[in-house]
Formats: sequence, C-alpha cells, structure tokens
Amino acid sequence: MKVIAFNSSPRAEGVSKTGIMLDALVEGMREAGAEVEVVALRKKKINNCIGCYTCWTKTPGVCVHKDDMTAELFPKWLEADIAVYATPLYYYTMNAAMKALLERTLPFLEPFITRVEGRASHPLRHNPPKAVVLSVAGFTDPSVFDQLSGYANFVFRNGLVAEIYRPGAEMLPWPQYGDTRRSILQAVALGGREIVQSGKISAETMERITQPIGDLDSFAQMANLFWKSCIREGVTPEEFAKKNLVPRPDSVQTFMMIMSQGFNPERAGNLKAVMQFTFSGGVEGSCHFVIDGGKIEARDGAAAAPDLIVESAFDTWMDVVTGKADGQQMFMEQKYKTSGDLMLLVRMKELFGKD
Ligand SMILES: Cc1cc2nc3c(=O)[nH]c(=O)nc-3n(C[C@H](O)[C@H](O)[C@H](O)COP(=O)(O)O)c2cc1C
Repeated sequence: MKVIAFNSSPRAEGVSKTGIMLDALVEGMREAGAEVEVVALRKKKINNCIGCYTCWTKTPGVCVHKDDMTAELFPKWLEADIAVYATPLYYYTMNAAMKALLERTLPFLEPFITRVEGRASHPLRHNPPKAVVLSVAGFTDPSVFDQLSGYANFVFRNGLVAEIYRPGAEMLPWPQYGDTRRSILQAVALGGREIVQSGKISAETMERITQPIGDLDSFAQMANLFWKSCIREGVTPEEFAKKNLVPRPDSVQTFMMIMSQGFNPERAGNLKAVMQFTFSGGVEGSCHFVIDGGKIEARDGAAAAPDLIVESAFDTWMDVVTGKADGQQMFMEQKYKTSGDLMLLVRMKELFGKD
C-alpha cells in the first residue's frame, strides 16, 4: 500500500502539533507495511488554482502551472492508495496551504457534469486516493472540528477512511500531561496500523485519540500567562522556546502551575519534602508543594509542617523563577528569607529546572 501524507503546518518539525500527530500515524502505517512518503507543504511551491480550466480543455489532465504540484505532488497523489491530509485548524477549517493543494487536484476530474446520488458531480479522469483527514486545534472543545468534518465528509464521500481530530493540541508537550500525550500518540500509531490493516480506525482507538487533555480553564490560564510573557519579552512563541524562557507567574495560582510544570521527577528521585512559599508585595499569599515518590502536588495556603519556607516579595521570587535573577546571589543579598532545610533551597534549581 502506498501512502502520501501532506502536512500543511507552516511550523517547523518538532514545534508543529500536526507534525507530532502525523509522525505517530505514519509510524503505525509503516509498521503495518505501508510505504509512506511525508510531504511538508511549507517546503513546496504550490500556486493557487487560477480557474483557467486549461487542465480541462487545452491540456486535459495537466495543470497550466509549472510548480511542485504539477511536477511532483499531483503524480504522486494519483499513484497513492491513501492520501493523508494533515492540517492545523485555522478559522475552524483546513489552512490555506492545504486548501490550495486540494484545489490543484482539479485535473483528476473531467469537465462534464453528471448526477451522482442525486447531486451534481464530474466524471473522474483518474481514481483519487482514499482520504484520511488529520487536524489539530488550540481550543479544547471537540466541536471546533465540526466544519472541517462536514467538509471532509461532503468532499471525499465514501473515499474518506478516517478522521483524526485532536483538540487542545497545544497542551500535548506540557510535562504534566506526559502520560496522556504518550497514550494519545500510541493510539494514533495504532490508528495508523488499523487503517492499513482494516481500512478504518476502531471506535476504541478513536476514543483514546480524542481523550481529554486538560480542561479549558487550565489551558486558558496557562496560555494567557504564556502570551503575556511573550508580549513582555517581545518574542514570538518560537523565539520563546529557543531562548528557553519561562512564563512569568502573575498570581499565586499561576506560580503553582509553573512550578508543577517545571518539576523534574527524574531528578527528584525518591525525595520526600514539603516546600512552602509566602509572598508579599504586589501579590500576597502562601502555597506549598508536596513532593513524594517523583510526584508533586501544589496546594493553596501554608503547610502544617513544611521542610522549607521561602518568604519573599512576589516579584523578587518571580525573577528567580524566570531566570532573571540568580537565586543564590539574591540569598546572599538577603533579598528573601528562608527557614528549614537549606539543602532543599540549594536543590531548587535542579528540581525545577529544565535542561
Ligand atoms: C491563523 C490561525 C487560525 C487559527 N484558528 C484556530 C481555530 O479556529 N480554532 C482553534 O481551536 N485553533 C485555531 N488556531 C490554533 C491552531 O489550530 C493550533 O495552534 C494548532 O496546534 C497549530 O498546529 P501546528 O502546530 O501544527 O501548526 C489557529 C492558529 C492560527 C495561526
């Protein structure tokens, strides 16, 4: 079985959530014996269809454009048994790059008009490949894909073998959802195997692919903090990641989230400790973290028996958290106070730092 998989995300490999999902699908398809070629559309030159109908008249079956679609992708698309259309959801549908590719498949149709199942249609010049539609979205509600799904079902009709939709996709790489991410990606790979072996994805696998990943409130809270931090630093999300920046908490709640996200379970090993933070200044309040067996739990308020207490002006500690200030230096300068096990303070950077 030959598969051609188009990824229309403009984002680079590793950053693109479409890419992360597609990689898993392709892995599964290959394991099941399919020959899969992945095409990143951002690296291809595909002109917009200009509606000249040269492909229906002067050069039947051949587009007037001389670009990567005519020279390479259209012939490969025709040869494939399955085409995977993997697109980020933009304005509740496929993005423009994917739409441009689809429009450029027009030469596979003949111009004549017939009636099929009661509606207008064109005779086929070539049989198109069966279709798999994969999409990812920022928002967490599965209904964001309703329009795309309606379109895919209308256009591909019986040729549509599977739809894989992943809402809340921007949360996939978040450390606290590691188990969920692994389960989703394993299910996507299984879905790839099932498509090759049985021509569809089972309901059970689909349930795992679409399982919830974080709720809207925690997504909104984290996303808003992230965007505020990008604006504050004057960087794009990609630059933010490249510079290894940390979103700057603006409340005790968001501090609890960031600390939980930054927690490194491997480095914590079997450490058992309770760390309390008490803030003053612009943001006031306390919270504490219970670390046990490689897990961390963030709790509101003061702890009953903390092993370490850090008392600091909120802004000062946020400078330490985001790497704007050196924690040890600030300690020497008595910019914050501590009591309890100072070894925990020394280990703080190791326990909450990412490489
Ligand atoms: C122009 C644009 C439009 C978007 N429209 C939507 C949308 O309608 N609904 C949604 O949930 N996410 C929307 N998003 C967010 C993307 O779907 C989301 O970030 C996705 O994970 C991007 O996939 P990628 O990383 O593969 O590029 C939009 C993003 C952009 C840049």
